[in-house]
Amino acid sequence: MKRIAVLTSGGDSPGMNAAIRAVARTCVYNEKECIGVMRGYEGLIDGDYIPLDRAAVGGILHRGGTILKTARSERFMTEQGRRTAIDRMAEAHIEGLVVIGGDGSFHGAKLLHDAGVPVIGVPGTIDNDVAGTDETIGFDTAVNTALEAVMRLRDTASSHDRLFIVEVMGRNAGFLALEIAVASGAEYVVVPELPLSIGNLCQKLRVSHEKKKSHTLIILAEGVMRGNDMRDKLQDTGGYDARVTVLGYIQRGGSPTSFDVVLASRMGAYAAESLFVGKSGMMIGNMNHRMVLTDLERAWSEQKSLSPELLGLVEKLN
Ligand code: F6P
Repeated sequence: MKRIAVLTSGGDSPGMNAAIRAVARTCVYNEKECIGVMRGYEGLIDGDYIPLDRAAVGGILHRGGTILKTARSERFMTEQGRRTAIDRMAEAHIEGLVVIGGDGSFHGAKLLHDAGVPVIGVPGTIDNDVAGTDETIGFDTAVNTALEAVMRLRDTASSHDRLFIVEVMGRNAGFLALEIAVASGAEYVVVPELPLSIGNLCQKLRVSHEKKKSHTLIILAEGVMRGNDMRDKLQDTGGYDARVTVLGYIQRGGSPTSFDVVLASRMGAYAAESLFVGKSGMMIGNMNHRMVLTDLERAWSEQKSLSPELLGLVEKLN
């Protein structure tokens, strides 16, 4: 294998550039060529390539976002779109592909593998909702970004004895919300994986009030409901006057933490080396601090579970 390509797909995440750099520099180290594909699967269909030599990935290690840009691609989910992409790669003598993205991106990667294209996935998403890895690239940075904002909210909440609802990202998973809740000492966390009763939540808020809790933070995963909707339900059901802050897209930006830079570097290098030795249809995972390979089928189709230990801590340490 002399020439491979790398692309970023789905929601961007801090650390993706470190992974791109690691793929490219591992190619250089092994005297192989690396091609960057712009705009994810859209660029794969369009043949929108840039050469990634040593210099091209210089100075990006600590930059947020992705120099290759990303996009969600409807075209790629069609047989014709994938065929065009495969033909373009063959014309460019690209013999393998590293896909950096989330579970949705791995569905497309699996289809490419099934069509005979050597593909290795690298889990890059702030959601951490990918089975086969303890952490995805960007999750640690997003947690720390959100934590900084939540601790600022706690200052004003305690000054005014207020109830705050903080809506965080996570598409349909509660990993971000749960980690932020434990890290910030939030009183409650609401996640899509667990059933929500507004009445039960109001009862808990009453108990908090009786415990003379001067202020309360609820971390709400966006996949459950919007923060404003929860505010209205708490008002209607329990007469609570909550303030709402939606953290939104700031959780996707910023310079990656050292954890994410190291994780991305390890995963990117291992992905390139896995292609070189003929692996395909697998995703790189970090399991108990070891680099492992997991079937892409599992990575995109299996529902990853929240930690019962962390869920218990939110309750126990309230
Ligand atoms: O998948 C990462 C993520 O940031 C989710 O947490 C969020 O719900 C989604 O992307 C937002 O998607 P988009 O950037 O397409 O609006």
